[in-house]
Amino acid sequence: MKGDARPIGVFDSGMGGLTVLRALTVRLPHERFVYLGDTARLPYGTKSADTVKAYALQATRLLLAEGVKMVVVACNTASAVALKALAEALSPVPVIGVIEPGARASIAATRNNSIAVIATEGTVKGGAYARAIAALRGDVRIVQQPCQVFVALAEEGWADTPATLAAAEYYLGPLFAGPSPPDTLVLGCTHFPVLTGAIQEIVGSAVALVDSAETTADAVAEALAGNGLASQGDDSAPTRFFATDSPERFARVGEIFLGRPIDVATVELVDLRSL
Ligand code: DGL
Repeated sequence: MKGDARPIGVFDSGMGGLTVLRALTVRLPHERFVYLGDTARLPYGTKSADTVKAYALQATRLLLAEGVKMVVVACNTASAVALKALAEALSPVPVIGVIEPGARASIAATRNNSIAVIATEGTVKGGAYARAIAALRGDVRIVQQPCQVFVALAEEGWADTPATLAAAEYYLGPLFAGPSPPDTLVLGCTHFPVLTGAIQEIVGSAVALVDSAETTADAVAEALAGNGLASQGDDSAPTRFFATDSPERFARVGEIFLGRPIDVATVELVDLRSL
C-alpha cells in the first residue's frame, strides 16, 4: 500500500517559496513535490490584489495540470489576497496558505504579547497577519512594516551585504527603538528567511524571528492525514521545478533559498499567460 503517490504543488512569485519547500521535504520525506516560481512576474507584493489573484489562479492551473493532490501557497502575498478564491477554484483539492501557520508560530513565540510583522506592501495593506494573529489571541499588540526592498535583495542572494544591513536598519530600527519593543518578529514573506543574519543583527538577539515554513509543513502533514492523501511510499522522486523566466538563474539563486544545489536540468521554463 503506497497511499496517494501524487505530488504536492507548491508555488510562489519567485524563489522565496523554496524556504517553505525546504521545510516540507524535511517534514514529509515520502512525498513528491512540484514547485513553481513565477519569476517573470515577481514581485507580487507591489501589485494589486486583483492582479495577484489572477496570477495565483494561473499558477495553480499549471500545478493542477501536473496532477497535484494538494496546493501549498508558499507566498504570503498570494495567501493574503487569494486563498479563498484559490480554495473555491481548486475544490476538492485542498489549498494550504502560509499566513495562519505563521500567525500560530508568532503566538507560540511571544512572551510580552507584542509582535512585529514584516511583509510585502500587499500583505501589510490587506492586514491578513493582523487578523490571523488577533483571531488566535485578542490581547496581542501588533505592529506591521512593509519591507518590499527585502524581496529584491533576497532574489539577488544578497544575504549579508552592507546594502541589506542598511535596508534592515532603515525598516526595522524605528520598530524596535521604543521603550517596550516587540519580542517577536514575523518574517511574513517567504523571501525573508534568507536575510535572517542581517535582520537579527539589527533587531538584536533577544528578538525571536519566526517564519511560517515549519508550521506550514505541520499544517500540510495534518491536511494530508486528514484527507487520506498521505503517501506511504519510500521511493520519493526528485522535486520538479517550473519557472516562468530563466531556469539557469532559478537554479543558481534558488539554492540559497533551498539550501542545496538545484540541477538546472530539473527546471522547466513555462508560460502561464494563456492558462
Ligand atoms: N515571497 C512572497 C511572499 O511571501 C512575495 C514576494 C513578492 O513577490 O513580492 O509574500
